[in-house]
Amino acid sequence: MPPAHRMDPAALEVARACKGFLDEAEGLRLHDLARQSAPLGPVVEIGSYCGKSSVYVGTGARAGGGRLICVDHHRGNEEQQPGEAYHDPDLFDAEAGAMDSLRHLRHTLRAADLEDTTLVLVARSADAAGVVTVPLGMVFIDGGHSFEAAQTDYQRWAGKVAPGGVLAIHDLFDDPNEGGQAPITIYRHAVASGLFEELPRTGTLGALRRR
Ligand SMILES: C[S@@+](CC[C@H](N)C(=O)[O-])C[C@H]1O[C@@H](n2cnc3c(N)ncnc32)[C@H](O)[C@@H]1O
Repeated sequence: MPPAHRMDPAALEVARACKGFLDEAEGLRLHDLARQSAPLGPVVEIGSYCGKSSVYVGTGARAGGGRLICVDHHRGNEEQQPGEAYHDPDLFDAEAGAMDSLRHLRHTLRAADLEDTTLVLVARSADAAGVVTVPLGMVFIDGGHSFEAAQTDYQRWAGKVAPGGVLAIHDLFDDPNEGGQAPITIYRHAVASGLFEELPRTGTLGALRRR
């Protein structure tokens, strides 16, 4: 395996300071995968939230000469709604009566100097899939964590990964006592499809290369 590319230290500080759900080893791995995959096509991230993963993936895509497409409706997933385990009151828009992480994403992209190489699609994943029709260098799935949402993301996006490109999925838990099973279920579907070859995992981040 080629040595890991060194991420821009200023961008790394932005990622570290950003609210989010990704540890640094996972982020650096995503950065490297995006850099390697970017020559094959745009890199798509499903579930940007405030932009923590976007900084790792976006700077990787840029280092590989490509672009990042951030897909998120910014209304939060099931676990981020008021009263749920991962709710953050700072992100609640009282006027809309709903979550809104878009402002934070814009702040993060600007701070990481990623505005020129990032397209932000404020949309449901399934709707975005209908308009993103080019072959993709990489798809990173970290959106809705219900079975239905994860299945939709897999069904609508996995087939868009170009041969040689990467499908990455966050929050893989082999043991159901450690976390929700929707992400690992779609990961197993991808492996069983025969279309993808497994790459080493980093923490809860799985990566598969399209044959
Ligand atoms: C776990 S957070 C993403 C965390 C982020 N990747 C990070 O590094 O911190 C999940 C995000 O997916 C978004 N989301 C959930 N379901 C979605 C859907 N069906 N379409 C688009 N975005 C969705 C939510 O709005 C939320 O911002």
